[in-house]
Amino acid sequence: MDWQDALREIITQPNTRLRFGEPLSKHTHFGIGGEATVLIEVSTIEELAALARFHSKWKIPVAIIGRGANMLVSDKGFSGICIKLIGELAKLDVDDNVVTVGAGYPLPALSKEMSRKGLSGVEFVLGIPGTVGGALIMNAGAWGSSFGDVVTDVTVMQNTGELLKLTQDEANFEYRRSRLDTYFCIIGATLTLKHGEVGTITQKMNTLFKQKIETQPFVEENAGCMFKNPQGDSAGRLIDISGLKGYRIGGAEVSTIHGNFILNINNATATDVLKLVAYIQKHVHKKTGISLETEVKRLGFDT
Ligand code: EPU
Repeated sequence: MDWQDALREIITQPNTRLRFGEPLSKHTHFGIGGEATVLIEVSTIEELAALARFHSKWKIPVAIIGRGANMLVSDKGFSGICIKLIGELAKLDVDDNVVTVGAGYPLPALSKEMSRKGLSGVEFVLGIPGTVGGALIMNAGAWGSSFGDVVTDVTVMQNTGELLKLTQDEANFEYRRSRLDTYFCIIGATLTLKHGEVGTITQKMNTLFKQKIETQPFVEENAGCMFKNPQGDSAGRLIDISGLKGYRIGGAEVSTIHGNFILNINNATATDVLKLVAYIQKHVHKKTGISLETEVKRLGFDT
């Protein structure tokens, strides 16, 4: 039996569809990327655990892609299983100021829902188009706040399919990273938010969102900031002073609004994007002596 037939056998939920040869350009904010061997929307912990064990047994690569917000997929696609978390894995539960949220839950919805309930702490995620799982792994941040700050604990799944609860300290949140990517999958987290006035929280959320759309591109397809900020500076500013805004390779262009965004303006390929990344790195280094490191996660590349 080949692995694809074996995979069909472990799917237990009647509604789970296996989409073979699914174009990942349809599942990423960049709108770039070849096909995944198979894409699965998983709705239960039990089925996810079966996939974890399948992954260990068959050594088939697995990628949890969330909403594909901070991701560049290779033009060749991803040879393996892409997973999106839905259903039981994308649920929200609120008990007083303690929020239990699934990794598949979208960040903008979380921000809006919490403002409606008068809970403060996630106003800044309205403009971040990813999922809670992505925000945990990357310790997503904006406007002086980071997602890890509101986390009490995180539940992860190990390769055996077993669950493990980690404290905020154990998750080891740092600037745009954590140690959560060493596990098979993030299941969800408990957040502790602060009670506040619905009006004040909503206003703060809207102000931050306005700030985002005034300073960052949001119409064209992109993957958020392409580079990590070097200590004490802004990669966007460095790209700007290097005269690279508007520079284009193939269908990829450095945003004229914020230098740290690469836009897919005309059917860009992943190759166009990576050529532009290398061009930026070379020219920023020449101009400022600083080496920029990429932030966006890569999928389907050899290295
Ligand atoms: N600036 C320029 N030119 C540019 C871009 C920025 O001169 O093209 C200047 C701005 O005028 C400002 C300074 O650089 O004086 C900082 O800019 P900004 O406030 O836009 O912040 P940033 O450091 O460039 C970071 C995060 C963003 C986050 C914003 C807002 C990183 C890599 N970027 O950008 O996060 O939204 O702060 O808090 O940490 C992301 O991670 O994907 C992301 C977009």
